[in-house]
Amino acid sequence: MVVAGSVRVPGDKSLTHRLLLLAGLAPGRSRIRGALTSLDARSTAGVLRALGAGVTPMRAGAEVTVAGRSRFKRPERMLDCGNSGTSARLVLGLLAAHPFRAVLTGDASLRRRPMRRVTEPLAAMGARFDSASPDRLPFAIRGGSLSSIAWQLPVSSAQIKGCLLFAGVAGGQEVALFEPNGRSRDHSERLLRAFGFAVVEDREGWIRFAPTGRLTAFDSTVPGDPSSAAFLVGAALLAEGGVLRIEAVGLNPTRTGFLRVIERMGGSVTAENSRDEAGEPVGDLVVRPSSLRATTVTAGEIPALIDEIPLLAVLASRTPGETRFHEVGELRVKESDRLGLLAANLRAVGVEAAAEGDVLAVVGGDAPPRGRVRTEGDHRLAMAFAVLGTVKGANIRVDNMECAAVSYPGFSETLRSIRRRGRAR
Ligand code: S3P
Repeated sequence: MVVAGSVRVPGDKSLTHRLLLLAGLAPGRSRIRGALTSLDARSTAGVLRALGAGVTPMRAGAEVTVAGRSRFKRPERMLDCGNSGTSARLVLGLLAAHPFRAVLTGDASLRRRPMRRVTEPLAAMGARFDSASPDRLPFAIRGGSLSSIAWQLPVSSAQIKGCLLFAGVAGGQEVALFEPNGRSRDHSERLLRAFGFAVVEDREGWIRFAPTGRLTAFDSTVPGDPSSAAFLVGAALLAEGGVLRIEAVGLNPTRTGFLRVIERMGGSVTAENSRDEAGEPVGDLVVRPSSLRATTVTAGEIPALIDEIPLLAVLASRTPGETRFHEVGELRVKESDRLGLLAANLRAVGVEAAAEGDVLAVVGGDAPPRGRVRTEGDHRLAMAFAVLGTVKGANIRVDNMECAAVSYPGFSETLRSIRRRGRAR
């Protein structure tokens, strides 16, 4: 197979959640172009509507308009965050500053994910929960007036960081945060600065937020999601010929760790038309099939590629030698036990792979991967193994491709559309 064409990927998931939520608390009408309209984004929109903000239907290609209000209203129903950990954690931050009771829930996967990492600091700021700091949804939060906080995060996580910064915004309080293993994605910081809030990193690496700004209605355009683009990049690298262009992808350095690792592995990916849009770096990615070499991904690199490990592991499975990923234990509490399932599924299709403690090791080869893949509804596992299924001689059956719609509606169609029959180079 060869790849060809010029494609776009849906809007960035992290930015879409944040823009929707900030628009919800910005009095007036905000307009968001290029927003992601996937299931996760719809979860955030649904929660906002229950909190009294007006959000127009999330239809692919349509601009989303949000009628924001300076304070949310008490919801009359449970706030269902579906599969979306980002929705749940960011919304909790905003609700911490609202003087009413709200109950949050989610699907079976989200109800298994740890929440104490946000309820503990929010309780320290003054929010109350049914129990001291509950760890699993569903639970109720009752917010109110908050105090400032200085908090060391247990893991570098943009969801925890975003949650506490949003609590600082809604509650008008100072927030200081320390991320233990490097900087997670910094979309919240960039957006809040654009609204006039002070967000600086001090010499010791603490992020210091001060409530100097104000949320006002805005117009914004969301770039393509680099985490979605990563799957197409992977398919193009593994192809036998051709070239693929992916246009208007967000290239924030706290998101593009996977490109740095791919470059080290010898992959040919170049960024063109690099520009800045609404405070975020954006560009086109041009990808050419490449022979790759094994590498070691270090602990410090993980936050900037946390969502791309399934894809990188799939690339490693086609690369001679052993590739190791250090300190990836956080993957055990993603939409699935992503670490355990990733290793098990690689083995299920004939690849030597092991997840021991916090380390994932993958030994690559060129035998055609064949077998069944069990995703447990994890969108990123489904898409990573669909990419592996494009290599010559592969026969991979993914048990649930529909879950790709959590972050990337239309993924399977786009993956098909970039592949052509043709001669290898
Ligand atoms: C996200 C942060 C990441 C990532 C998730 C989206 C965000 O989680 O895995 O897909 O938008 O804040 P952590 O930062 O908690 O690892």
